[in-house]
Amino acid sequence: MSHAFEFLVVANRLPVSADEQPDGTTLWTRSPGGLVSALEPVLRGHDAAWVGWSGRFAPDPYSTEDYGRELEPVPDGVGPCPLVEVELSREEVEGFYEGFANSTLWPLYHDAVATPSYHRHFWEPYVAVNQRFANRIADLAAEGATVWVHDYQLQLVPRMLRDRRPDLRIGFFLHIPFPPAELFAQLPWRQQIAEGLLGADLVGFHTPGDAANFLRVAERFLRLSPDGTGVEVPDATRPTGGRRVTVDDFPISIDTREYDAIARTEEVQDRAAELREKLGNPRWLMLGVDRLDYTKGIDVRLKAFTELLEEGAIQPGEAVLVQIATPSRENVEDYQRLRDEIELMVGRAIGDHGLIGAPPIQYLHQPFAREELVAFYAAADIMLVTPYRDGMNLVAKEYVASHGGPGALVLSEFAGAAVEMTDAFLVNPYDAEGVKHAIVDAMHTPHDELDTRMRRMRARLFEHDVARWAAEFLEALDKSEWSR
Ligand code: ADP
Ligand code: F6P
Repeated sequence: MSHAFEFLVVANRLPVSADEQPDGTTLWTRSPGGLVSALEPVLRGHDAAWVGWSGRFAPDPYSTEDYGRELEPVPDGVGPCPLVEVELSREEVEGFYEGFANSTLWPLYHDAVATPSYHRHFWEPYVAVNQRFANRIADLAAEGATVWVHDYQLQLVPRMLRDRRPDLRIGFFLHIPFPPAELFAQLPWRQQIAEGLLGADLVGFHTPGDAANFLRVAERFLRLSPDGTGVEVPDATRPTGGRRVTVDDFPISIDTREYDAIARTEEVQDRAAELREKLGNPRWLMLGVDRLDYTKGIDVRLKAFTELLEEGAIQPGEAVLVQIATPSRENVEDYQRLRDEIELMVGRAIGDHGLIGAPPIQYLHQPFAREELVAFYAAADIMLVTPYRDGMNLVAKEYVASHGGPGALVLSEFAGAAVEMTDAFLVNPYDAEGVKHAIVDAMHTPHDELDTRMRRMRARLFEHDVARWAAEFLEALDKSEWSR
């Protein structure tokens, strides 16, 4: 691609992933996760390119198996804008993606809910892949272009990019929490990561707490002197010998109107009614929708629901819990273990409390089309979002946007969404009794109160949608001190 782009979005994942079929053809499917859900509508119709990985392996020149194999190019029109693929070999995926990104950074940044692994053989490919992304962007960006880098997989890119292209305006947004300095301190490469991020003109986080944690890291590990809104960093290429990096919070959101519109269609309303009927028209339909990830606290809600059945607070047949868990990071050991644990819990609960033709839990380990998810949201009386830690959690917002009438959102205090969604039934996921109380409370709260709480949450979501999130970030980037 020889075109020079004025605006580039860079994320580890492209919005579509290649699924290579046994007959050699490639199927392009929507990539999982909140980042793609959020950026996709923002980029539709924007004059931009999206740089990222397609989820497949580049041919290995030293493998006889790969001899003559070539990657089919990403077809035109499968994404919201032109897509530029950064190719990764199988080894790089193991070290960079499964290793440093998802076995080191992911658990560390989520309060170490799983033990992070610190390996030099993960760090080296992380550096190499970040450099490849930076080089690719440096070659594609027009003079003075804006580059928006996303998420924890690419934290070294801002600095690497600035070294090659000081003319660019560089923004970085982290889609997951940023940990407290005391926890970040464990990372053997803490200084390089902090310096990498400070290559940007603007560094954005979901919550004020995340932004404060990052500023504290800059102070403690780089000996800088941040103020409340950013930090001056040394820069020998500038006449002043330094430049300012702005640091702020930008809580991400969803395309609220689109979810609302989908939920209002006759097809989705009919499907919601049909789902309820197929589930035996329970008095309470409870729902969980997550990537199958150990941060999401799927075990928390399964345990709470099962104990409520055991104690008789929920009678068999009266309530059904549908847990949708889309497959995720299946080659990472902690995810394999989690799957076994969750499936054991579901199997036990069904065995102990199921009636013929009416299991109390329905578990679906599958991705779904958006319309089908919205039908589930519309049908559910109680949405259970109980992560141990989550950057934002878009599912909580999608439920509120899709569920017009009275409905209850049970939401973990440790999801970024809890900062804004104070009308939810907020819970501490580590407090098993507290979670059970919140569920029972949600079951028995009068409909007019549920309706009022839902209206307030919807009003906020309509005002603070993903278009506003992107506009506010890009406006702040525009205003930030530019490195020219
Ligand atoms: P994360 O980014 O950690 O995956 P979020 O809750 O922020 O968490 O975003 C998850 C996104 O993935 C949401 O947009 C949600 O609709 C989507 N999603 C979750 N489960 C499924 C599924 N089974 N099928 C399709 N999309 C899903
Ligand atoms: O921020 C959430 C996130 O980790 C994204 O960075 C990522 O694209 C998504 O969830 C799904 O995870 P993965 O890309 O590892 O499948």
